[in-house]
Amino acid sequence: MSDQPTSFSAPRGTRDLLPPESWRWHRVFDLALNRVFGPAGYEPMDTPIFEHTEVFERGVGEASEVVTKQMYTFDDRGGRSLTLRPEATAGIVRAVLENRLDKGSLPVKLLCWGPMFRQERPQKGRYRQFTQIDIEAIGSEGPAIDAEIIELAARFLNEAGVEWRLLLNSIGHMDASCRLGYLEALVDYLRTHESHLAPEDRERIEANPLRAFDSKEGATIAVMKGAPAITEHLCENCERHFDEVRRMLDALDLVYTIDPTLVRGLDYYTRTAFEFVSDDLGAQSTVLGGGRYDGLAESLGGGHLPGIGFALGVDRLLLASHTLNEWQPRPVAVFVVAVGDRAGREALPLVTELRRAGIGADWDLMGRGMKGQMKGADRSGARWAAILGDDELDAGELTLKDLETGEQERIPHGRLVSDIQTKET
Ligand code: HAM
Repeated sequence: MSDQPTSFSAPRGTRDLLPPESWRWHRVFDLALNRVFGPAGYEPMDTPIFEHTEVFERGVGEASEVVTKQMYTFDDRGGRSLTLRPEATAGIVRAVLENRLDKGSLPVKLLCWGPMFRQERPQKGRYRQFTQIDIEAIGSEGPAIDAEIIELAARFLNEAGVEWRLLLNSIGHMDASCRLGYLEALVDYLRTHESHLAPEDRERIEANPLRAFDSKEGATIAVMKGAPAITEHLCENCERHFDEVRRMLDALDLVYTIDPTLVRGLDYYTRTAFEFVSDDLGAQSTVLGGGRYDGLAESLGGGHLPGIGFALGVDRLLLASHTLNEWQPRPVAVFVVAVGDRAGREALPLVTELRRAGIGADWDLMGRGMKGQMKGADRSGARWAAILGDDELDAGELTLKDLETGEQERIPHGRLVSDIQTKET
């Protein structure tokens, strides 16, 4: 055993996931798969952690901040440009097209989780490697699936103990009668107020005018207060779609705020866009974000395949949760305490008997005395200590101690499994 810590540390913006937090992560995934999304017909899948760089350039958009500034891109030994996934949606749509899932029954409803990578400036709730749970429903254009997805997001956050506010918008679709017309009006407005914009926002007026809504610069924020609203420029079809989504959310008693400045950072979005924010998070307050992406499959070379989905940041979810951080994992039910050589030889068979019966059991592997083993029992979170000493062995018994109440009783050795099974149910 060494007292010397390693001279290496994890790269900036990454972190090690250690117990007990690691248990809580698995609880979040379990909640997602088994309680909320799985029972609603969403099936687990995963994509590679790296993709051909073009998947993100064409999918997420060459002008988006994620692609221009944040991707971890490298050439492999064969000279191919690969990128660690900064988000899951582009890869999932690539996988749906490649595996022809869109030729089966629609919509394709998928659930995926894992690490994503973005080279951003690290701060509380913002990391360079972070974990998302990502939900996608692919194949339907109708507003019903938008409402389903948003309701699932809300329920998941409720189950995970997060207090949220829902921001909702429609950003139309890429057509002269809709978003393109709006963008012209927005560019005109930005040009008129160019001298008051922050320099960085001035530069991208033509390339990506919507980004001005995300600016953190005070000067730009002031200008954007008077900017034309996308919701007033939607074409008839997009407006009808948005009205329908809202009507369905109202029928579910879901409370939301229409936020015409909500444009999202990825370029594939069309029509419905939404974010769930938590006031418990500080600057990085968006715990979950998503929207529709009706043109994404086409940008990746596929046919018309509309879709909608969202991703929630697991790191942020745990920071915002009011309940998960109090939750204590208790996988070990019984801690076997063995005092003396003879009992020591009986301990592993007893632990094994419990484990084979499906009861969580652990024991001391460091040769500690009675006191040290009782401390170990407390640390393990076990409810019961099964204590074996010479006395008990001679009588063919053991002492079963309830570590919560302190009560203890002697029971026949052979009754331990059935007694625990009765007490634990
Ligand atoms: P996004 O808004 O870029 O959307 O990310 C979704 C969520 O991931 C955020 O709300 C946040 O909780 C978490 N997140 C993002 N960046 C970081 C970071 N650097 N550190 C910690 N957490 C972070 C997407 O990724 C879309 N693919 C969502 C989607 C799915 N849209 C449709 N389908």
